[in-house]
Amino acid sequence: MCGIIGYVSEGDCCGALFDALRRLEYRGYDSAGIAVLGEKGFSVCKKQGGVSNLASFYAAGNTGVGHTRWATHGAPSDKNAHPHRAGKIALVHNGIVENYAALKAELEADGELFLSETDSEVIAKLISRAYRGDLLRAVHAALGRAEGAYAVAVIAEDRPGEIVAARYKSPLIAGCGREGLFVCSDIPAVAAGAGYIAKAEDGEFVRIADGEICFYDRDLRPVPKVFFRPQADLGAAPSDAGGYCMRREIGEIPAALRRTFCALEKTDFAPCARALRGAKRIFAVACGTAYHSALAFRDAAERDVGVPVLCCTAGEFRYRPPLTERGDLVVAVSQSGETADTLEAVRLAKERGGYVVAVTNAGCSSLASLADFTLVMRAGAEIAVAATKSYNCQLLCLWYLAAEMLFFKRQKYPDWFSSLQKLPSAAEETISLFSEIDRIADSLKDAAAMYFLGRGADECTAREGALKVKEIACVFAEGLAAGELKHGPLALVREGFPVFMTATQPPLFKKCENALAEVRSRGGFAALFSQSEEALSQSCADVKVRLPALPAALMPCIAVIPLQYFAYRMCLERGLDPDKPKNLAKSVTVE
Ligand code: M6R
Repeated sequence: MCGIIGYVSEGDCCGALFDALRRLEYRGYDSAGIAVLGEKGFSVCKKQGGVSNLASFYAAGNTGVGHTRWATHGAPSDKNAHPHRAGKIALVHNGIVENYAALKAELEADGELFLSETDSEVIAKLISRAYRGDLLRAVHAALGRAEGAYAVAVIAEDRPGEIVAARYKSPLIAGCGREGLFVCSDIPAVAAGAGYIAKAEDGEFVRIADGEICFYDRDLRPVPKVFFRPQADLGAAPSDAGGYCMRREIGEIPAALRRTFCALEKTDFAPCARALRGAKRIFAVACGTAYHSALAFRDAAERDVGVPVLCCTAGEFRYRPPLTERGDLVVAVSQSGETADTLEAVRLAKERGGYVVAVTNAGCSSLASLADFTLVMRAGAEIAVAATKSYNCQLLCLWYLAAEMLFFKRQKYPDWFSSLQKLPSAAEETISLFSEIDRIADSLKDAAAMYFLGRGADECTAREGALKVKEIACVFAEGLAAGELKHGPLALVREGFPVFMTATQPPLFKKCENALAEVRSRGGFAALFSQSEEALSQSCADVKVRLPALPAALMPCIAVIPLQYFAYRMCLERGLDPDKPKNLAKSVTVE
């Protein structure tokens, strides 16, 4: 989950590296560093903390590498920050070298001294020991000993104008931009200024030298590549571009839904018609927020298409009994398309004959390459670690997919298609409710814990609300099916304990109200979110928020917005930075 960048530029590369690191910062922000190769060798600056700590660093030289870190091995500190030096080598790494302890012990026994606690420094040492003037061969030889996952970019003191990079299970691209030729871990970090890019596949190497980018396979045979223009709307603005990214991205939900709907209308589903028509069951795999959208998909697909959906968090999918078979539909959801757990789940599902439909925000991601069919949502760049607009767009894509399934199975167009079109304006209306949410956040700023409840289609909203509050506001929150409250969680409810109920499904209003009554009778603070005048007027809740009315099945896309914003406001009330939540990073590319 670190971001890596390497540049061979026409002039000095320091500015281009720094700029790319600012755009990569969502991948990790506990330390950052740059190494520039100039006439007098390397100039290195690496510091604990955010990329802004490197702002005053400048070194002349056209070849360099940069890194923004999310610590796995070794605490965040100056010495554990990348780039790591060894002999003539400077290296940046994203991933985990799983056999690093054994390699380190071997190198130490042979006299090597380590300056950091990282697994990455082991690779730098191995490359340095293998280096005899041919950087590509040295990187190839060293990585032959590494187990785990890596994307590395390496430069050598006596090879100005050259970068060697390699990938195994961690994303890596190479391309040409305004500033020169680059390798990078992420498309969004370079999409805005990139001309053309190409992706490295697992086991491949990239060499930038003599003004050219060459790809090689695991035996160092040249690999021809198709270079393409990256999706321009993925171009990431850095988090200091004015205001918080999370707030900006919540405000972008209506536009993102509009773009996504237009893209879906233009999507040709014919290539996956057979799989959609024939599927007798569906496996939905995803992590975190994307998993919650899979829960919403389950609701629609089971109720309206009549196909059972097994939702599984991707990290658990591969450790469960392998039930996926030929003919099964596997729906994999991932904003980034690079989440390691989701990719592994998809690989396994494919091995077992499943047909994979991916829903992702990155049409050129690893997930899109693996899937049999990809639905690309058009949320635009999502930089804040907390997923917001991508969640709303995932729901839209997944419901659209369910509607297509229904069409292919029954040859009948469900009226969903027209209802889905109403989502953007309903989202706009919801955003206008934010002053009510400000008041709630203000009154709850000292709460130590809270529950989010919902039943049926509202359960995913409850879970997503709780996840947002945990990760952004650092407040313990649990998202529950409301019926579960009385089976244990009620024990914690006492005077002032906040309980948020989302109730948008008419047959369940009474049941939700019963749960709120249980909360109120123990002195808890109850907030109700519903589109139903009747449900609101008859409720005992302390606070009632009226949502715009849509067909009940689509309410999760709208009902989540006040909760996303509530988490953001709680975060500000508690003096935290919503774009840099503690211990987290945007794209989880390690298992
Ligand atoms: O890129 P992905 O959608 O695969 O990411 C999955 C999760 O890591 C992600 O949704 C995470 O839970 C978010 N930080 C939640 O806001």
